[in-house]
Amino acid sequence: MSAHIVLLPGDGIGPEVMAVAKRIVDAAASLADLKIQCSTELIGGAAIDATGVPLPETSATACRQADAVLLGAVGGPQWHAQEIAKRPEGGLLQLRALLGTFANLRPVKPHAATIDASPLKPALLHNVDIMVVRELTGGIYFGDKTEGDTHAADVCEYTADEIARTVRVAGRLARQRDGKVTSVDKSNVLATSRLWRRVCNEVIADEFPDVTLEHLLVDAAAMHLLSRPAQFDVLVTENMFGDILTDEASMLAGSMGLLPSASLGEQRTEHGLVGLYEPIHGSAPDIAGQGIANPCGMIASVAMMFRYSFGAANLAASIESAIAAALNDGIATPDLGGTNTTAQMGEAIVSHLV
Ligand code: IPM
Ligand code: MG
Repeated sequence: MSAHIVLLPGDGIGPEVMAVAKRIVDAAASLADLKIQCSTELIGGAAIDATGVPLPETSATACRQADAVLLGAVGGPQWHAQEIAKRPEGGLLQLRALLGTFANLRPVKPHAATIDASPLKPALLHNVDIMVVRELTGGIYFGDKTEGDTHAADVCEYTADEIARTVRVAGRLARQRDGKVTSVDKSNVLATSRLWRRVCNEVIADEFPDVTLEHLLVDAAAMHLLSRPAQFDVLVTENMFGDILTDEASMLAGSMGLLPSASLGEQRTEHGLVGLYEPIHGSAPDIAGQGIANPCGMIASVAMMFRYSFGAANLAASIESAIAAALNDGIATPDLGGTNTTAQMGEAIVSHLV
């Protein structure tokens, strides 16, 4: 198999974790005898500084033609004073829309070796294995915005189709897991949430009668994620609730730096789904340039790329085992209470890759 991927290092710690991701891509590809060609493009603040816009046409075109896209992080305090379309984050939103990657998969599964890094009691964390499916190209992120000195508005809109296709992704994943979907909304207040709940009920009843469905209001879900995290299987929710709940859920694993994500749509290549893969952490300007960022979330995103875009589930599992093995050896970056560097963590993972 030969494939082409675009690397978008972005801002802050993005380039640091991307350098390690590239090592993993090369090591994994040579193990499995895959030909993977990488090209690097600009996004975010780095793109604004070089070209004036957060997603230049050359980057957009390269991503549109790629089999998969790997992204580090975007954003930083120096680019804050702009409207969203001109900010680094705007480039990422444009890219998600451009690729049509409406379903964002964020798995949360604590590693045995880093249980103590979580602020939660270890007893609560046993058997935690959650797959969050976050709707990624609709809702309040993409609705009309008005911003004045004394009045501002963000419109939240959803169509039944946007909801149904996201719920289908959750239903299919639940079938491969424990057969349970928890849908999170705010249907006691929001019209979009009432539509969300109705469509969710219909899709699961009609197409996934074998899947168990429960509904939670988002405020209750935030609490249940801390009080009974092991009882979740697949959690599906709209864009902004998913953004917030996955940062919260990352603390079950102990550090945001551990968590990967895959953004998928319906577009396919001969190898699998076209996807955008990024760790859920941000650009972390406070530690950028120090070489101490945790690369595990980025590397686990590479694993997801092999699984969903290249149909190489074995290779994905090997990368995930290598991360677990390095953590078991006690290799840890400062966010996990350790003293290892990004590069040391990366090399430890490469050394376990078989
Ligand atoms: C995420 C991030 C982004 C989001 C930002 C950088 C726009 O927080 O991927 O969770 O809100 O979607
Ligand atoms: Mg976020």
